[in-house]
Amino acid sequence: MSDPFAPADGPEEDLGDGKDPIWKRDFPFQALSEEEVTRRDFARYLVAGAGAIAAGNVGIAAWTQLRTINTGKPRAIVALADVVVGEPFLFRYPDNDDPAVLLRLSDTELVAFSQKCTHLGCVVYYEPEEERWHCPCHEGNFEVKTGDVISGPPTRPLGRIEVEVRDDGKIWALGEKVGE
Ligand code: FES
Repeated sequence: MSDPFAPADGPEEDLGDGKDPIWKRDFPFQALSEEEVTRRDFARYLVAGAGAIAAGNVGIAAWTQLRTINTGKPRAIVALADVVVGEPFLFRYPDNDDPAVLLRLSDTELVAFSQKCTHLGCVVYYEPEEERWHCPCHEGNFEVKTGDVISGPPTRPLGRIEVEVRDDGKIWALGEKVGE
């Protein structure tokens, strides 16, 4: 005698044991829509990945911009009267372990730069006969007025220190622009 409570065979039967229904075992073909769901998920991951990369690029751009902001606080360097035209004056800026150099190009023209070469950080020197800043480590050369790269491996100009002469007769450093 058959069991009246036994599940009936049929196309929608689910055995409730975590396995596929019998009809699916007997007919193991995937519907097209099942594959489309997978593609949709893949597209979602793709969009999410592209979004993450875009966000990363925005972050890098913002960081690069921030690096060009002035660093260092206004500080008196030396009396203008004590700086000879054509002779570099060495000082420390923005911190005491940051070598910097001031050059009086004429009675009225002053420039100041970080002495750290933007290649690998060696100290640059003024070469009056060549009118340039020279890095002896790998023969990097920078333009004397702007600090722009003339030749050699550096790709960025020297960090420029803004300076001005104030009423007290002293040359003041106002901040350094780096990473331009
Ligand atoms: S460290 Fe200045 S050129 Fe390499």
